[in-house]
Amino acid sequence: MTTMTEHAWQALKGVNAETATFPARASFEGEGIVVFRTKDGYRGTQRACPHMQATMLNGELTANDTMVRCPLHVFTFKLSDGKGVNCAGFRIKVYEVRREGETLYARPAAI
Ligand code: FES
Repeated sequence: MTTMTEHAWQALKGVNAETATFPARASFEGEGIVVFRTKDGYRGTQRACPHMQATMLNGELTANDTMVRCPLHVFTFKLSDGKGVNCAGFRIKVYEVRREGETLYARPAAI
């Protein structure tokens, strides 16, 4: 038995990992997220940029796929913990994403 509150992995419905184009639109517990395919696997972020809510579906991977940049005003966030690197005080929610066959599973990243 565990007393820790930990988010369980949840299958992302409506996204087929084989056929999806990344970044891919998905939702986690009713919240819009975006799944990126990086060199190291998959990572998710909240869909709305924390600056002025532009969609991160247009986000661009940068810094060897360790950061994502919103093209609207180039605010850039670390995929590890969501911290803004050129926009102090801004942070994007990040999700761990793993794949099993055609299915992607996500949970909020432990940071
Ligand atoms: S809305 Fe994303 S950087 Fe401004």
